[in-house]
Amino acid sequence: MINKIKSIIEKSLNKLNFESEEINIIKSNRPDLCDYQWDGAFRLAKTTHQNPFEIGCQIVETIKKDQEAMVNFAKIECVKPGFVNLTLSDKFINEFLNLMLQKPKFNITMPKEETIVIDYGGANVAKPLHVGHLRPAIVGESIKRILKFMNQKVISDVHLGDYGLQMGQVIKGLLEQNVAIEDIDIKILDNLYPLMSGRCKEDESLKKECSLITKELQDGNELYQKYFQKILEVSKKDIKRIYDYLDVSFDLWNGESDSYKYIPQLTNELFENNLLKESDHAMVIDVSQATDKKEIPPLIYQASNKAYLYGTTDLATIYERKLNYNPDKILYVVDMRQNLHFTQVFRASKKLSSTKDIELEFLGFGTINGTDGKPFKTRSGNTPKLDNLFLDTKNVFKNKKSENQSLSESDLDILVNAIIKYADLQNNREKDYIFDIEKFSDVVGKTGPYILYTYLRTKKICPTGSNNVDNLSQTIYNIQDRDLRIKLLDLDQTINYAFKMRMPSVIATYLYDLSVLTNAFYEKNHMNNLEDQAKKQDWGILLNLTTNVMKTLLDLLIIKIPTKM
Ligand code: ARG
Repeated sequence: MINKIKSIIEKSLNKLNFESEEINIIKSNRPDLCDYQWDGAFRLAKTTHQNPFEIGCQIVETIKKDQEAMVNFAKIECVKPGFVNLTLSDKFINEFLNLMLQKPKFNITMPKEETIVIDYGGANVAKPLHVGHLRPAIVGESIKRILKFMNQKVISDVHLGDYGLQMGQVIKGLLEQNVAIEDIDIKILDNLYPLMSGRCKEDESLKKECSLITKELQDGNELYQKYFQKILEVSKKDIKRIYDYLDVSFDLWNGESDSYKYIPQLTNELFENNLLKESDHAMVIDVSQATDKKEIPPLIYQASNKAYLYGTTDLATIYERKLNYNPDKILYVVDMRQNLHFTQVFRASKKLSSTKDIELEFLGFGTINGTDGKPFKTRSGNTPKLDNLFLDTKNVFKNKKSENQSLSESDLDILVNAIIKYADLQNNREKDYIFDIEKFSDVVGKTGPYILYTYLRTKKICPTGSNNVDNLSQTIYNIQDRDLRIKLLDLDQTINYAFKMRMPSVIATYLYDLSVLTNAFYEKNHMNNLEDQAKKQDWGILLNLTTNVMKTLLDLLIIKIPTKM
């Protein structure tokens, strides 16, 4: 849609012998005046030393002389100080909506296809999943779904944290308590990790011992490996259960430990490329750059006790992914606070001949805070486990009104998911946000329940049986009708922007705006007892398109549709 308008403006620029530029069409913030605006006259005014208003007027006059172009506009004018205001014709709007109806995926412009590995989730084995694990899972899953929708070849990897200090701590605890390998279960692990990590904070020699166990585990100690395999199995099962509840899934269930077999090859290549050097008995890769404003310390490849670290496994994992999938890009959906770590890893990867061509993107996310503005805690001061968060949310929603109590368990689970995910994904992922269960469970406001309610209510008045081959006529019947149609035209740009920025929030906001306009349409236009058959047919098609778009976008935000609410 936008491309067509762009090409009309471009044509008139050429006719007037202006240098062609990247044409930028913006959505008007005064929909009462026009649908879109072009502000390029200001840039051209600078380069040609003319008045922007005059330039705008010339462009408008040129377009007005072109009959073929003018069928697309109901109104086009230049207003001071130099904006070109564009109002689309009903014909133009409906032709594009008809293309959205006929073509696959709403006729959205697709980017070039690339192979992309996306690394998200990243839960740590043997530690219980808490609120902090929510964002990497759902922001990542949503970005993955957006990539797939945009025809990218995607490989998702959970990249479990399975070879860190927590393994040594938990193994030590199990040995101390004489727990037999076959008796290890999730309850034992959930209790043991907080206990051991607390003790290690107080007891330096215990911590050293646990580090040593971790190191020996990494070196292949047989007994520790047996414990490790069982811990991995038990913990993975529980992590999977939670991800299943959230409808988050992965192609690969690899972990840090899986990258170990690539370390010898990687080390060879690092030596060949002359990248490893010794510093304080450790092996490091210098990643500083002359232009750095603050110091970027070297990546520690092998610690002085010969252990490999977080940076090593990440570098080895890039190497592994290159060999196995040859990706164009690797995306990391990780806490913002790991920014420095990824700067080091990315720079090291760029130095290595076999991985230097892979584009690496750090997609950071902020923290979930409580209503007090501090990191989200339960009343007793603990970071809530995810299971408890789900339960609390369900109870809050059920208590909102009595009808909610009679919903089926599976609809309630769908709603819990919708509440949590929409609360999260509507925020720019880089920002912290306040998780307020009360507010986000409401059916009014910018919430998951509001959007689902709108969807279900609209779906109810959609005619069944009408199909995609039906076309809209050229008529638009009133302002609420027109606003809704214009919003649907913006879908292409919206999804492309969300894709480019890796920002599910762009889709979440669009979905909310679309819901508001759908409700306004609903209030104004009564579908029942409509005498006018043409109108009835048009509105049926329009509402079907609207609900199809909503459903598709909800799916990109990992939100399912309940049977009722
Ligand atoms: N396990 C890590 C953590 O909890 C996150 C993993 C992110 N991905 C990665 N390739 N490092 O902090």
